[in-house]
Order: sequence, then C-alpha cells, then structure tokens
Amino acid sequence: MTFNQVYQSIKDVPYISKTNAKSLYDFILKHKPKHILELGIAHGTASCYMAAALEEIGGGKLTCVDLIDVKDVFKPSIEEQLAALGLQKHVDIYRMKSGYNWFLHNDIKASSNNETHICQPKYDLIIIDGPKNWTIDSSSFFLCDKLLNENGWIIWDDYKWTYSRADLRKEATDGISHRSLSDEELTTPHIKAIFELLVMQHPNYGNFIIQEDSDWVWAKKIKPNSTKKITYKQSHTISYYIIQKIRKLIRK
Ligand SMILES: C[S@@+](CC[C@H](N)C(=O)[O-])C[C@H]1O[C@@H](n2cnc3c(N)ncnc32)[C@H](O)[C@@H]1O
Repeated sequence: MTFNQVYQSIKDVPYISKTNAKSLYDFILKHKPKHILELGIAHGTASCYMAAALEEIGGGKLTCVDLIDVKDVFKPSIEEQLAALGLQKHVDIYRMKSGYNWFLHNDIKASSNNETHICQPKYDLIIIDGPKNWTIDSSSFFLCDKLLNENGWIIWDDYKWTYSRADLRKEATDGISHRSLSDEELTTPHIKAIFELLVMQHPNYGNFIIQEDSDWVWAKKIKPNSTKKITYKQSHTISYYIIQKIRKLIRK
C-alpha cells in the first residue's frame, strides 16, 4: 500500500506528523526490517504507516504495545484504523497493566536461553514513543537493547518534550504527577537526557541522527566501540520555514 493511500485515509488522526510518517515509511521500504516493535501506540496512526510499508515490501511483523487502561480512550482505535485499511495481518497488539517495560521483561524472558544465559535479539527497528520519562524510558532503552539486532535502529519521539511544557494543560502525564517532580525534572527534556547520557555513550550505538525540528532522534546498533557518527537533519524544507515565519508575522 502506498504512502499516499494511507495518508488520505488517516491524515487527521494524531500523533505522527506527515514528515515523520514519510521518513518512517521510506526507511522501511529501504531497509526492509523483518520485525518492528512500537512502544506507545495511541490511535495506531504510526502503526498504520508501518504496516502499509511492510505490506509494500512483501511482509514482516509489527508488534505494538500500550496500556490496558487506555484501550477505549483512543477513538478511532488502532484496531479500527488497521481494519479500515485491511492491514491487520501485519500487526500484533499487546496491552499491559503497568506498561511496556513489563512487556519487554516478558519478551527478554521468552528470548533467553536458561543454560547459556543469552538473550537472542529479534527486532530490526524499535520506536519508543511512550511516557518520555527518565525513570521509565532509561530502563526501556536498556531493555530494548537486549532485543535489538546488530545494525538495527531505535527511534525516539519527543526529543525536546518537557513536563513544564505539558504542565499548562494537565496535572499528570501518563500516570506521573507533575507535582512529584523537581523543577529540574520538569524543565529537562527527559528523552534528550536519555539520548545524550545513555544512548550516545553506549558502546553498541554509533550512528546517530538528530532531527530537532521534528522532535525525532535515531540511533543505530553497531559493533561495540566502532567509530561514532552524528548527523543533524532538517526535516522540513526552506519553504516550510518561510511559511511558518509569514504565519507568525500575520498573527502579530
Ligand atoms: C504519543 S502516543 C503514541 C503515538 C504513536 N506512536 C503514533 O505516533 O501514532 C503515546 C502512547 O504511549 C502510551 N504509554 C504511555 N506510557 C506507557 C507505558 N508505560 N507503557 C505503554 N504505553 C505507554 C500512551 O498510552 C499513549 O498511547
């Protein structure tokens, strides 16, 4: 299924921008990952783009994880969106009581050999798009690392997101009360901290793509201690920035 066919059907459903959806779709066409893991699915909009790309390359599996508590919160649901596009067969959906880190616990356990104590990795691409919280997502990174194949990639959304930005609208985000956090924790972008302090320093990760304007960052799993490379990418064209500037001037 082409990108435009999916876009025409689900373009108004959050939470992925057209730019990020297109780069995800194109990445799958180019690298042909066999097994993808998406942590945090909401309406399953990103899931639909990934399932469409898998169909386009002739197959593959997308495993998606979210919380049981929000099963009926997101309308349309991932099930409805996938069914409308006829893409259900590519996707397995898991809903967990406490969150995706327990799914990762189960997955690591199932992938581990009790005698050799080795966990066999299985994913070629992982998207981490959940609570964007240091405590939860520092752990999710190390857990995902155990399940990611060499040459596989991890993508994080919300690179610059902070609790203080969300604080204006609500008292808690994904079960974390904003009042329970220090000023520093409220104003620090947690995903950026995880990326800079854990991912970039990790000996198994060496190819980094930072797309600040679309809030996405990528890291490739490499042979331990290989040379590290950082690429800063603009997701939008110059005309996009000119239009944004004009819009701002008109609003003043
Ligand atoms: C921004 S949405 C995901 C959007 C989706 N990846 C997309 O681009 O279409 C974040 C999702 O993460 C889920 N979430 C938050 N904390 C979680 C956790 N600890 N475990 C599993 N899912 C979680 C939320 O319920 C929500 O559905």
